[in-house]
Amino acid sequence: MKKIFKRLLQGLGILVALIAVFLGVVYFVTSRRMAKTFAVKDHPVPVYTSLADIAEGKRLFLSRGCADCHGENLAGKVFLEDGAMGRYAGSNLTAGRGGILASRSDFELEKAIRHGVGKDGRALVFMPSLDFQGMSNQDVARIIAYMRSAPAVDNEPPAMKAGPVARVLYFLGKIPVFISAERIDHTAQPVAEVKPGVDLEYGKYIAQTCTGCHNHQLTGGPIQGAPPEWPPASNITNAGLKGYTEEQFITALRTGKRSDGSAINPIMPWKNLSKMTDTEIKALFKYLKTLG
Ligand code: HEC
Ligand code: HEC
Repeated sequence: MKKIFKRLLQGLGILVALIAVFLGVVYFVTSRRMAKTFAVKDHPVPVYTSLADIAEGKRLFLSRGCADCHGENLAGKVFLEDGAMGRYAGSNLTAGRGGILASRSDFELEKAIRHGVGKDGRALVFMPSLDFQGMSNQDVARIIAYMRSAPAVDNEPPAMKAGPVARVLYFLGKIPVFISAERIDHTAQPVAEVKPGVDLEYGKYIAQTCTGCHNHQLTGGPIQGAPPEWPPASNITNAGLKGYTEEQFITALRTGKRSDGSAINPIMPWKNLSKMTDTEIKALFKYLKTLG
């Protein structure tokens, strides 16, 4: 009896030691990867100053999800705080105290948005540039015009803390947006503009807004990096949207109601997505119906 107990204890000791070694390796490797810098060439984007372009920039900022993490006043906010995952806050994008705007050129803003690379080449953490890498010069420039015009707000978002579970998931490749810069082709040639129209090309362009949560194939499932209490994202390919007419799809994005009338969980950011134009939503629906 005593012998078995001793063996058991020994086994347990070895297991604990192995876990400690594994976590040590995870911390070492992830810290190194997070500290890696990226060289990105400057991509010139147009400079817009008209009120119409600024208004369009604001609409893009809201409807492409930027406000979900940076706040509707652009002052930054904590969007994920969880003992296991850690704490993540979007930066204060204004020129106020704690904000980054005054010390960033347009090149640096473009690099952050489309490449996930910050000033001095460091990789931005949990900034989902994977979803924004295909954004046209025109859209990026309008968002920058809006940022430049927005009022300065004093706010110092708390420092980021990468929790143990986030590090393990990142280590295992389960959170692609954790360090988007690692997965983006930084030499890709950006498109100048994408013409709005109810067609598949435009629908595919708009669908990039949805891939961060609904996954790359748009088949849904657990959201990468999300805490366990978040519901899985729905399948929004043709199979998932079987019960939807175009009209009902527009209603879903505008009012947060499914085709059967039930409420969509507010984790699905329909309030901000409702700022999409009819053309964007119709093109999106047309494209999604061709998938799966
Ligand atoms: C899922 C949350 C999330 C979304 C959505 C998001 N961001 Fe971010 N963003 C972050 C985080 C977190 C950082 C800070 C990362 C760091 O400092 O390592 C950041 C950093 C930035 C920076 C760089 C700040 C600097 O230090 O230079 C810019 C610019 C930026 N975001 C703009 C945008 C724009 C524009 C959009 C929408 C097109 C957007 N973000 C959408 C989370 C997000
Ligand atoms: C921040 C994450 C997030 C983003 C970004 C997001 N969604 Fe969702 N979406 C969800 C979640 C989570 C659900 C499931 C909600 C529920 O079960 O009530 C959902 C559900 C939906 C539904 C309801 C489908 C059904 O009948 O169950 C539709 C339609 C939808 N999303 C479309 C979109 C489109 C289109 C985009 C991009 C323009 C988008 N979503 C972007 C998280 C997201």
